[in-house]
Amino acid sequence: MRVIADPTELRPALADLRLRRKTIGFVPTMGALHDGHLSLVRVSREQTSAVVVSIFVNPTQFGPNEDFRIYPRTPEADLEFLEREGVDIVFMPPTELMYPRGSKITVYAGPVGETFEGAIRPGHFDGVLTIVIKLFNLVQPDVAVFGQKDAQQLFLIRRMVTDLNVPVRVMEGDTIRESDGLAKSSRNVYLKVQEREKASVLHRALATGQRLFDAGNRSLADFQRAMHAELAFVPEFTPDYATAVSEASFMENDPVADSVRLIVAGRLGPVRLIDNFRLSASR
Ligand code: PAF
Repeated sequence: MRVIADPTELRPALADLRLRRKTIGFVPTMGALHDGHLSLVRVSREQTSAVVVSIFVNPTQFGPNEDFRIYPRTPEADLEFLEREGVDIVFMPPTELMYPRGSKITVYAGPVGETFEGAIRPGHFDGVLTIVIKLFNLVQPDVAVFGQKDAQQLFLIRRMVTDLNVPVRVMEGDTIRESDGLAKSSRNVYLKVQEREKASVLHRALATGQRLFDAGNRSLADFQRAMHAELAFVPEFTPDYATAVSEASFMENDPVADSVRLIVAGRLGPVRLIDNFRLSASR
């Protein structure tokens, strides 16, 4: 496994892989790797003969009052983990090489980038898409894999790839969950014991929505009411949203579509949690 920090060293390393007729899969991460990331690496491995993983805590996707400085960083454990998974290249650039002084041009995530997560975290998706296109340009992968847990991010990356004709196939990895349903996330380490016990409420709210969907209910208001009612059992949780969006547009429709994403997010004490279920009537 090669660990590369300098973007200019990536090109010859990738050229070498291509010379050996390898197809390249890419898993962008912010480190603090857990089983969710592992599943992304495995999706990539199934599709391609070489895997590149990036570890970069991207400052432009954090708001001024967010957790950029304290975001968990565990580089040694991450490298061990990736070595065990047989990853070919780990790209870990320092901030100043990704955003040299004077860089100004960014990607605008469009209207969907200003809803839900983007409404709570203004500019977040512009930052995500800007770093993702930069990483795509450096790695030029055949396939890139992102987690379903960040459903709006995944939607917008697909949108960008289509709208800007980016020559990469975007694939998704399933959300990996703890035994009580809590979605694995690098930020779960922020949860105190009492908060951790309550954090599965997001999963319960989504399961409530799924029951409605499976019973044939397509009323947007019913989904919102039922999911919020479930969330209200944990008064320490302050919801930002709990609703259903169409898979095709990431927008709310009433009646809800047959291919839908139930999405939920909010704060448990100081910790922000998000989760979603994808539901399809043809399952
Ligand atoms: O999902 C993440 O970890 C990040 O948003 C990503 C895609 C690596 C961009 O920084």
